[in-house]
Order: sequence, then structure tokens, then C-alpha cells
Amino acid sequence: MRKLLLIVAFAIANCTSYAQLPLAIPDTLTGTTINLIMHKDSISILPGKKTQTLGYNSFHYLGPTLILNRNTVVNMNVQNNIGDTTSVHWHGLHVAPTNDGGPHTPILPLATWSPSFKVMNNAATYWYHPHIHMKTTEQAMLGAAGLIIVRDSTEALLNLPRRYGVDDIPVIVQSQQLDTLNQIDPRGMVDSILLVNGTFNPYTPLPAQVVRLRILNAAGERNFNFGFTGNKPFYVIANDDGLLSAPVSTTRIVLSPGERAEVLLDLTGMNGQTLYLMSYASEFPMGVQGGPTMPMPPGFPPMNSSLNGIDFNILKINVGPPTISPVTTIPSSLVTVTPYPEGTASTTRNIHFTADSFLVMDGPFYFNDSSFDMMHVNYHIPLNSTEIWRFVNETMVAHPFHIHDVHFFILDRNGIPPAPKESGAKDVVLVGPGDTVRVIMKFEDFADTTTPYMYHCHILMHEDDGMMGQFVVTPNTTGINNVTGGEDLLTVYPNPALEAWNVRYQSKDDALLVELYNVTGQKVFSEYRMHIPGQYAFPITNKSLPDGVYMLLLQDKSSRHSVRLIKQAH
Ligand code: C2O
Ligand code: CU
Ligand code: CU
Repeated sequence: MRKLLLIVAFAIANCTSYAQLPLAIPDTLTGTTINLIMHKDSISILPGKKTQTLGYNSFHYLGPTLILNRNTVVNMNVQNNIGDTTSVHWHGLHVAPTNDGGPHTPILPLATWSPSFKVMNNAATYWYHPHIHMKTTEQAMLGAAGLIIVRDSTEALLNLPRRYGVDDIPVIVQSQQLDTLNQIDPRGMVDSILLVNGTFNPYTPLPAQVVRLRILNAAGERNFNFGFTGNKPFYVIANDDGLLSAPVSTTRIVLSPGERAEVLLDLTGMNGQTLYLMSYASEFPMGVQGGPTMPMPPGFPPMNSSLNGIDFNILKINVGPPTISPVTTIPSSLVTVTPYPEGTASTTRNIHFTADSFLVMDGPFYFNDSSFDMMHVNYHIPLNSTEIWRFVNETMVAHPFHIHDVHFFILDRNGIPPAPKESGAKDVVLVGPGDTVRVIMKFEDFADTTTPYMYHCHILMHEDDGMMGQFVVTPNTTGINNVTGGEDLLTVYPNPALEAWNVRYQSKDDALLVELYNVTGQKVFSEYRMHIPGQYAFPITNKSLPDGVYMLLLQDKSSRHSVRLIKQAH
């Protein structure tokens, strides 16, 4: 069986008989109200059975590109029609934790989640994808993902290509493993099917002028060493969370899962020529997923994708005539980037990437030897503090570290400052086997002791398998020891209530499972709430519930309490 899979994978990667297809350019959604409907769908990738997928709105796979303007307030409505719990995380956006779409803000089947937030990020390329604990791999790999482009007034003044789909091209790169029935294996490591914007074997026309590619590595585990045919130089202009101070000329940019880069490619005078966006994966060392296949002990799942350790084409570019008013020059400078000075950090946190044994290659992996625990907040970080996080990778494989809420600047890798092409604001950093990487970041704007933000490895399987932690940002005026005595453990008022019940609960634990059941025993509401140990106080809005009797269940690590609630008739 394994041998057969190998042969199939090999045949696919080397087969030239599949027709080249025009690259799909996802439609855009913009404005102050964005409606997303997530649904089940299917597409034809290979001949034979259709491949089951997830998509947003009219997309059979992936979702629309959201174009957001800095400093505007957007109202998102995300409707969940996939028949399973999901969430939507705005990867890279600096938003309050309740708007962040992490595992603590699930969207139940058929429900609509409507966060509203101000776009505070600089112009750059971000993305969105589900983030339910232990389901992220499956849902994101089935196609639930889309690009976010943030525009701002500083970027608008630069002479950069920004005609979406014309000279400003979204490039969402994924690798997939299909089983013998053409179905996506979300955790498959024999991921030999390359998709760009969901298109298998794609080509695209591009005009003979300066073009901008917004590249997102949306693969589950594969790293790409992007470059062009014949080592044609290009210019990196933006990292994950913003433009660089100046374009950086290079022939390679490594992007690990979750990372983005904006690059300028000068096609001036090349009308009629053909070139490829490629991955020079032969240059990856062993241990960087996508590099040479690691020898697996007998009994382990195969990891030998035919793409491992070789250079391969990703997107064929047919250069055509230039457009009217083309961009023909590379700007000499871009924006002012102000990294946080190292001396402003108040804390250094050491995060060791660990496994049960050094020999483990396929996980599970951990941060500081502990697996993700929904009920445990790993760090309480005072608002406005600047911190250095130091990652020490004690495993044999490279891990892309990602953090929500903030962006960071890389201070150094094994003591060496980052190359100019990696010196901008980022939210994912690849930490190679044995490497030590330090980053610096500032926790501003959103103190909320009840909903945590996540940090995790962006290899989706590692994340789902527990290589994740969570932090809350605390208002720096609040003490940690605010436990008061002598009160009832659980009080709810008013009861009966017209619109909302206010719940107060005393607990020694920092997480609480809150569930509401109707009179027939159906769960109508379920969420985790986080808190500094002490007192929880939160409202439960009952507006959308039918009048009647309900049971509220609160559960922490040590105890379980329930109370009967009444929704009053008007
Ligand atoms: Cu792209 Cu926590 O995720
Ligand atoms: Cu994120
Ligand atoms: Cu990892």
C-alpha cells in the first residue's frame, strides 16, 4: 500500500499530462460590512472522484480576498454552514481577543458570529482561517482560508503596483495529499499536489513591467524557498505585518506555514517570455519540512513527498504586453520601520520547543514540555509591556512560531541579527532545529483578562497536537490577588431576566467551562472563559433564546455548579 502511494505521488509530481489551468484570482470583498458564509463544497483536482472541500461564499475552495482600510471599523458576519463547530481567526490583525477568532470564540453550527473592530494594522498581506482546537488542520486544509489585504495612506503614496489581479497578484500556495479516492488527507505528509489560489498546475499572464506578488504559505507543514527561474533577482518589500524600509534585492525568500511576503518582480522588456515562480527546496537542510525526507523508522507514516528536497515549479508566468501607466521602477525607499529597542523590554520569556524524545520527528511537540491546555493560561502579560521571547528549538525539525495580537521584530538567530529581508514586522518566525531565536514585541491596546490570545507552531498538525499556549493581557492597574471571601460561589441576577443574566462566580482556577441547556436538555450555548484566578463576572445575553427555563452549568478543574435560570416572557 505504501509503495503504491509512493508511485502515485511520484507520477503526479513528474507528470506533464495534466493540463495547465489559468490561475484563479479570488474575488474581493471590501467595505465596512463583510459577510462570510462558510460551507461544504467540492472541486475537481484530479480526474475521477470530486474532492470534498470547505469554502466561503461562492468559493468551492478558499474564500474571497478581503480588502480592509486602516483606521476604519469593519463589521464581520461569519455564518457557519459546515455542520460542525468552527471559528475564524484574522491572522496578523491586531484586534481584541474576543474579536480574534481563536478557539475560545467558537461559532456553533448554523450560528453567525459578528465581531466588529477597527483595522489598526499597517498595509500588508494578512489572512483568515479557522482556529478550533484540534480541528484547525482539517478545516484549514479542506480549504477554509482566504487573504486579507490591508491598505493605508502611507502605502497609497508609494509608486507600487496595486491593481489587484493585474499587477498586484495574490499567490496562496498550498500542498495537499490526496488519497486514492481523491480526498484531502489534512495531515498527509506525502503532499505532492501543489495548489496556487486553489488552482492545480497553474499559469498566469503578467504584464511586462514591475509586478507585485503577495505570497502566502498556506500549507499545513511545508516550507517553500521561493525564487524564480534562473535565479532572477526580485525585491522583498514587505514581511508579514508591514512594508520594509526599502526594497531588498534577493534571489530567495523562505516562507514557512503562515508567513507572507510581498515581492516586486521586474518583467520590463520580457514580453513573450516565460518564467516560473519556484521553490528551491534542494537548498533546505534536513529537518526543515520540504527539505530532504528524513529517514523514518519502520512503522511510522511515510513523509516522502516527491517535492521533498528538489527544486520545483509552482506557478508559470507568461509575460505579456505592458498595461497602460505601468510601474516601471523599483522605489528606493518605502516606509519608516521602528523596531522596539532591546533595552525597552521588561521581561524575557524562554520557550523551549520540546518533544518526548529528541528522535521524535512527527510529534507531538510541546512548548516547555507541556501540551496545550484550554483551561490554563500560560502567561499574564501586563498591558503596554515590551517583552523578549527567546525560542530554543530542542527538536530535530523546524517549527514556525506564530503569536496572535502583536507583531514582533526578530532580534537575532543564534546571535546573528536578521537579514534585511527579514527585518520588518512579523508574526511568524521559522526556528530551525537546534536554533535559538529571539524576538521583541509590545502588548498594546487590548487588556482582557477573560479571553486569551494564542501562540503556537503554525505547522497545523503540531498546533492541533498541543504545540500551543495562551496568554492574557492584563490591565496594569489590577492586582492578581482579587479573591474575595464570604460570598456565595455562584450568583446570577436578575433571575428571571428579560435580556441578560449577569453571572458571578468564585474560582481558584483560571478557566471555566460555561454551558447553557434548555429544558429538553439541548445545549444552546457553550464556551470557555478565562480569568485571573478569583472572580468571574460576565453577562449571558438571552435575547435570541425562546422564553422558558434553562440550566446553567459552570465547571472548572475542581468543581461543577449549576443553577436554574428563567427567561422571562415579555
Ligand atoms: Cu494563522 Cu493562530 O493562526
Ligand atoms: Cu494568528
Ligand atoms: Cu511545529
